[in-house]
Amino acid sequence: MITLSTLKKYKKEGRKFSCLTCYDAMFAKMMQNAQVDTILVGDSLGMVVQGNDSTLPVTVEDIVYHTGNVSRSNKHALILADLPFMSYVTVEDAIANTRKVMQAGAQVIKLEGGAELSEMVTTLTKAGAPICVHLGLTPQSVNVFGGYKVQGKSDDAAAKLMSDVHAVVAAGASLILLECVPASLAKAVTEAVDVPVIGIGAGADTDGQVLVMHDMLGVTHGRTARFVHDFLTDERNQKSEYAGSVEGAFALFHNSVIEGSYPQAEHQFN
Ligand code: KIV
Repeated sequence: MITLSTLKKYKKEGRKFSCLTCYDAMFAKMMQNAQVDTILVGDSLGMVVQGNDSTLPVTVEDIVYHTGNVSRSNKHALILADLPFMSYVTVEDAIANTRKVMQAGAQVIKLEGGAELSEMVTTLTKAGAPICVHLGLTPQSVNVFGGYKVQGKSDDAAAKLMSDVHAVVAAGASLILLECVPASLAKAVTEAVDVPVIGIGAGADTDGQVLVMHDMLGVTHGRTARFVHDFLTDERNQKSEYAGSVEGAFALFHNSVIEGSYPQAEHQFN
């Protein structure tokens, strides 16, 4: 069973770790068989499960439902879950909603933001809820950003992100997740903090890598982001003992992250 202590130990040893989003029991069981280290019950479910254009319509009840599905059938991975849009504007809301999501089986709560979350992070952590802070491209703020754009590109934006990371780690954050930031910035953040850093579209140097499950299975409409690789149709999966199965795609992702063959330079932003 993977815990936060396991991930901290992995960081010290330089052993990378895998993370996939998951929303239901069958895929959660396959991820257990494939030894995927961590699972994120992400509010991306609003898009890939519910068919919305963004994560904004997702509710706390949706996250509770999907977290229960996942946690009942995977006893190996550390389970992270999102608090969705507008469900943690006040510390009081954050406490009430964290309670519901952790009682459904989440072991870490993910919040999107920066230094402004510091008080909330301290309060929740002291109350027994480890927090992962998601920075960079934070999809709940898509309307503030004006689209899904790479973040932290200018010197000022990079310095602000680094200062936000230091603030939330000082406040007690247990994990950092960086989405769509230049690889050099993600590397600098990963080296600057003791807590494990998970990346998506953040280059090869973060401690962990996460992908949305549907994306890495090639189950998508239209254009995919440059950091996505289809592990299902990958020749190595087709030729493996898993004979091209979904479980094989999960195992190939996990092994590729650990051995450092995913992500490649073509998957990163500079
Ligand atoms: O909700 C989600 O799936 C996420 C990942 C994109 C990191 O936040």
